Amino acid sequence: MSDRMNEVSVERARERLHEVRLQVNGAWRSGQCAARTSLVDFLRETLRLTGTHVGCEHGICGACSVMLDGRPVRSCLMFAVQADGHSITTVEGLAAADGTMSVLQDSFCQTHGLQCGYCTPGMLIAAQALLERNRCPTEFEIRDAIGGNLCRCTGYQQIVDAIRLAAARLNAAATGAGSGVSAPAA
Ligand code: FES
Ligand code: FES
Repeated sequence: MSDRMNEVSVERARERLHEVRLQVNGAWRSGQCAARTSLVDFLRETLRLTGTHVGCEHGICGACSVMLDGRPVRSCLMFAVQADGHSITTVEGLAAADGTMSVLQDSFCQTHGLQCGYCTPGMLIAAQALLERNRCPTEFEIRDAIGGNLCRCTGYQQIVDAIRLAAARLNAAATGAGSGVSAPAA
């Protein structure tokens, strides 16, 4: 190891650690990290919640999206210490406690809204945030809500279909109209 690399490792070993306490998917979790640790690294490496993906690490792709106090944020652009005391929802928080997929997650399966799945956690978080504030989104509103999330596989149409299907199913359930809503035609 070069002297410079050695110096960097010693410097990092000496870094002061901060206690961070967050409400994640309804449960309080805590851990220690350096001030420079991003929220996504804290979630993945300290809390072992690896459902949130890391893509570009500079705010472009949306793969790292989580909800902070109900609003979608890019967790690669925040320090974990900034989220101290706040409420976070990750993709792991969308399913039921027994692992049953949410209507939104199931709708992605029904419409083939994913291929490699790399963008999917971020897409689900963007869609969840949309449906929580607007249960009847137009196609334009759906496309706008996922406009900051990149997908290199699907061409986006199946993702839009998934969110439309989820909205229809949630509305049907809320009005007691049954769940016989089928996937939009390809
Ligand atoms: S990893 Fe955060 S926006 Fe790409
Ligand atoms: S499914 Fe592969 S990047 Fe979206």
